[in-house]
Amino acid sequence: MALYLVTGGSGFIGSNLVYHLVALGERVRVVDNLSTGREANLRPLLADPERRHQVEFLRGDITDPDLVHRAMADVDFVLHQAALPSVPRSIEHPLESDRVNAYGTLLLLEAARRQGRVRRFVLAASSSAYGERAPEEPKVETMPPAPLSPYAVTKVTAEYYLAVYHRIYGLPTVALRYFNIFGPRQDPTSQYAAAIPNFISAFLRGEPATIYGDGLQSRDFCFVDNAVEANLLACTTPADQVAGQVLNIACGEAITLLGVIDTLAEIFGRRIPPRHAPPRPGDIRHSLADISKARQLLGYTPKIKFAEGLRRTVAWYREQAG
Ligand SMILES: NC(=O)c1ccc[n+]([C@@H]2O[C@H](COP(=O)([O-])OP(=O)(O)OC[C@H]3O[C@@H](n4cnc5c(N)ncnc54)[C@H](O)[C@@H]3O)[C@@H](O)[C@H]2O)c1
Repeated sequence: MALYLVTGGSGFIGSNLVYHLVALGERVRVVDNLSTGREANLRPLLADPERRHQVEFLRGDITDPDLVHRAMADVDFVLHQAALPSVPRSIEHPLESDRVNAYGTLLLLEAARRQGRVRRFVLAASSSAYGERAPEEPKVETMPPAPLSPYAVTKVTAEYYLAVYHRIYGLPTVALRYFNIFGPRQDPTSQYAAAIPNFISAFLRGEPATIYGDGLQSRDFCFVDNAVEANLLACTTPADQVAGQVLNIACGEAITLLGVIDTLAEIFGRRIPPRHAPPRPGDIRHSLADISKARQLLGYTPKIKFAEGLRRTVAWYREQAG
């Protein structure tokens, strides 16, 4: 059994990774300070007598060097998800974003280098690295980064640190540039909540969803199980094929926010017209990925398509609601 360190394992994507790894029989160590993650996300696992021996939970901050050093002991694979993941939050608190997302990543890389036996260090990077592009122009990894928010700068910085740790110290790193990931356990209550959990909660309350702007902006929405699979592939693909690389992880399909509302109306069987609010600073208009590189290097294919992912997500929120 390998030991996986999942930073941010109490958060949305991190907890999905933890559940999958445990189901595969792996051992997982979680580091999380519960700043945006929720204790409830891992509670069923930590309370399950059959599975809790596979999971170790370290509550703490990835900007604490002692904690990071302890967390790295005997680890085979690092899946680094911990971050303050919101563009609006980074605009309000740029220093805090930088400290967690960039400096925190550097501390983890340094601990992995010193530990000396980490087989893969995988980063939750972000499509925000690309900035704004024309809608018909899918984002390819060869495009130079053009960050438009403090958040995007921190995520690009983290990627650069990975590349340098690979090049200089030979650490086998992989940066997965997630596009808009959605699915069970994504937090709908935060003031910085993403569009899909926000919309689903509005539908569950029978209220209009709030759209910032006209709703014709588009995103490459990708169900979380696809991102989980990409992480597993990033660990199992031979290092000489993938180490030091940056890879887009998405579905390769653009969906407008009004399109999301339409699909939700079909799933819920009722139409509630959205409410429009002014566009938010730092938000981009269109985001679409070219995923050929991940297909080629990892053998990644997004198995769960958007509508099916949305159905599963709604089913999960419904179950939680009652
Ligand atoms: N959700 C997306 O669509 C998306 C897109 C691109 C990139 N990402 C990246 O994926 C990762 C996971 O995002 P998410 O959507 O699951 O967000 P999330 O907020 O649910 O998860 C982040 C987790 O990190 C933890 N954390 C934050 N600061 C920490 C610190 N200083 N020390 C320890 N733990 C800390 C939080 O408590 C939380 O559990 C992030 O790195 C984010 O930047 C997400």
